[in-house]
Amino acid sequence: MLCLGIETSCDETAAAVVKDARVALSDVVSTQIDIHRRWGGVVPELASRNHVVQVMPVIDEALSRAGVGLSQLDVISVTSGPGLQGALLVGLQVAKSLALAKGLPFVGVNHLEGHLLAIRLADDAPEPPFLGLVVSGGHTTLYEVPAFGTYRKLGTTRDDAAGEAYDKVAKILGLPYPGGQPIDALAQTGDPKAIQFPRALKQHDVLDWSFSGLKTAVLVHVKEHGVPAGQALNDLCASFQEAVADALTKKLIAGAKKAGGRQVVLCGGVAANSRLRALAEERAVDAGLKLYLPPKRLCTDNGAMIAVAGAEAFKRGLRSASTLNADPSWRL
Ligand code: KG4
Ligand code: ZN
Repeated sequence: MLCLGIETSCDETAAAVVKDARVALSDVVSTQIDIHRRWGGVVPELASRNHVVQVMPVIDEALSRAGVGLSQLDVISVTSGPGLQGALLVGLQVAKSLALAKGLPFVGVNHLEGHLLAIRLADDAPEPPFLGLVVSGGHTTLYEVPAFGTYRKLGTTRDDAAGEAYDKVAKILGLPYPGGQPIDALAQTGDPKAIQFPRALKQHDVLDWSFSGLKTAVLVHVKEHGVPAGQALNDLCASFQEAVADALTKKLIAGAKKAGGRQVVLCGGVAANSRLRALAEERAVDAGLKLYLPPKRLCTDNGAMIAVAGAEAFKRGLRSASTLNADPSWRL
């Protein structure tokens, strides 16, 4: 079964062909980061305009790298929410048009479901039930996944998403957007114990997170000591990174214990973070859990994860109507 997945919810135009909901035959991502960087964040109008320019070449490239023609596809899947309204509409309209032209079914899928199922493309992939922690620029939510298509929220952030905290702290430190990678790189040679940043919602029975206090603590530190440079900058990055990784992994393990789960998955852009990956690995072993970490390219936005979610939905008999609209705040 061949599924073409299309993703245009934010600042990556992406398309991929996935076989049997398990194997990516191609996975093409065109990022707009350079366009948005000078504005310090994603500009919705610019995102839509650039998706319109990129979406067809990206789909063409995904099909040609897979060696698959449109008529060989069984289904087309597309992110229909959550995300930026205008950006989502570009991918959605292209998916509908291709489906209509070729007489194919299409499925609108939730972007977060895509992140949760990206791990299915890895060689070592879990079957449900598993627990999945989505940590991205817009979301920090722990889900219980008893079966494909069933997602129970166990906990979430009460304010900023983890990736949002990275991006805001990077801005405070004068680092480029998006902030995750640059902070991760500087933290490699920093001392994570240099600054004691706060850990919010420490209670183990509360499965929620809060990152806005941490961001404010960084701001206060910078106001008192000035924007750090050299080793002091590396130390601050490492200390901030430690606080985020500590909070995320503690609640992930607590959630698994509470839900009685044995398999846990980390996903979303922040799951590419080196310290988060290492600490999650360490704490999962201690707790006797099997941790699944998608390779980094599957953590950030891509078309293959949307194809997997679409293919699984298609297998369950789901088909979207041609009247489907984008839903910018679709909750999973
Ligand atoms: O999943 P994603 O590509 O897009 C959303 O759905 O939001 O995640 C993007 C987020 C950004 O906030 C970015 O700073 C963060 O993922 N990120 C990282 C790393 N790489 C990307 N955060 C921490 N460490 C990284 N290495
Ligand atoms: Zn995402």
